[in-house]
Amino acid sequence: MPSVNLPGRTAVVTGASRGFGRAIAAGLVAAGAHVVGVARDGDALAELQHELGTSFTPVVADVTDDGLAAGLIVEHRPQLLVLNAGAEPHPATIQDQTWATFSANWNVDVRHVFEFARAALLAPLEAGSAVVCMSSGAARQGSPMSGGYAGAKATVQFISAYAGAESERRALGIRFVALLPKLTSATALGSTFVDSYADYDHVDRDTFRERLGEPITAEQVADAVIRVADHGNSVAPAYLLTSDGLAAIG
Ligand SMILES: NC(=O)c1ccc[n+]([C@@H]2O[C@H](COP(=O)([O-])OP(=O)(O)OC[C@H]3O[C@@H](n4cnc5c(N)ncnc54)[C@H](OP(=O)(O)O)[C@@H]3O)[C@@H](O)[C@H]2O)c1
Repeated sequence: MPSVNLPGRTAVVTGASRGFGRAIAAGLVAAGAHVVGVARDGDALAELQHELGTSFTPVVADVTDDGLAAGLIVEHRPQLLVLNAGAEPHPATIQDQTWATFSANWNVDVRHVFEFARAALLAPLEAGSAVVCMSSGAARQGSPMSGGYAGAKATVQFISAYAGAESERRALGIRFVALLPKLTSATALGSTFVDSYADYDHVDRDTFRERLGEPITAEQVADAVIRVADHGNSVAPAYLLTSDGLAAIG
């Protein structure tokens, strides 16, 4: 199977305005790709474009907008999709969630991975393309302080596997891979939840951070995305990412 050879290729990165997505966009541009970065915060995307130059095209949109995925694929013909956008979960135990807060990650993370994976298969992307779906280590162990987050991220992993199986059945040559990073304090989102879980476990925040071990950085996530997108480097349908590196799952 051919691989995504980044120089001169186009990648769509969702959730590019901050956190992992911003680092992924910068990492892909550094590797020679043109990146189309999608998020709602136009100022943050403009700042990133200022930093990355003409190799970065900002698209200010909600990833759940109807027709967005198919439209971006037709317009930019990407060889790589990095489906990273994610809603910020409401940090509360189950009785303090409402259905609206509980389902936030289903309506953004799951819905956009579903729409983009479907559009990638229907277009289809060219053989040798890759789709990286951002799941989470929480998909394996639950996340009692973030409502439906863990279940949503498990479903992201399932959608990636289903789409990968369809690609194989139809000999499309599109690689679908799920990435499951461990909770990290490296982004504002992760830091909120590290502190929430410290409170949940009744330990002080420094002790909890020590227990978690070395936090993975956004740049390590970006390197991992580039690595798993390469058909030559990665063969598993999903990878767990910790500070020790990537570990194949399933
Ligand atoms: N941090 C962690 O510890 C951790 C661990 C495992 C997995 N993850 C996953 O990794 C991904 C990135 O996490 P992060 O820590 O970098 O989060 P973050 O800093 O909160 O960034 C989330 C990104 O998603 C975008 N986004 C959210 N809702 C959107 C929408 N409706 N339409 C378009 N863009 C939207 C945000 O942009 P706008 O607000 O500008 O739209 C932002 O760019 C998420 O899927 C998260 O669940 C994070």
